[in-house]
Amino acid sequence: MKAPLFEFPSYQYEIKDWEFKKKGLLNRINKQNFIRCEMHNQNYEVDRGTSGKNYLHYFRELVYNELNEFCEEAKVTCKMTDCWTVRYQKGDYQHVHNHRGWGFSGLLFVEFDPEVHSPPCFVAPWQEPRTDTTSISPLSGVNEGSLFIFPSFCLHYVNPNQSRKRRVVTSFDLLPETPEHQTINKIV
Ligand SMILES: [Fe+2]
Repeated sequence: MKAPLFEFPSYQYEIKDWEFKKKGLLNRINKQNFIRCEMHNQNYEVDRGTSGKNYLHYFRELVYNELNEFCEEAKVTCKMTDCWTVRYQKGDYQHVHNHRGWGFSGLLFVEFDPEVHSPPCFVAPWQEPRTDTTSISPLSGVNEGSLFIFPSFCLHYVNPNQSRKRRVVTSFDLLPETPEHQTINKIV
């Protein structure tokens, strides 16, 4: 019988009342200043690091219920430190990357048509022992309003958008509260 030692802690939720919330979120996102990122072999538009981004508070409220569900399931207390939105026009893509060495990251699919858009792909953090190959898994079953949360260390990438329809994803990082003795800023 199988006797797994580790699990890969990833979670998926569907945002309730999505159509209503989508309007409010897009309203805010569309007012942001997006810059085109064409470095490191990748192409997309992002509002991260641009001045005037002011929807973090709104976004936190929007995903509040689903994040609570995640915290309960994952048995963790987290703080959302930042959120940002990436827009993929036709041909845009994102190179393989991760977000940091610990904590969780999330993706909310804001404008996403599963008929024409491809989901992000995740690279397994360990080598496949039967074939000595790297396993890659596209995210399955995502629609607009899907929220996917995964360990920030996991490598992922986005294939080129083949459609004229833009693909819009809001991302965020969650920093877990660590036990007192592990607190980084603790002064000894
Ligand atoms: Fe990412």
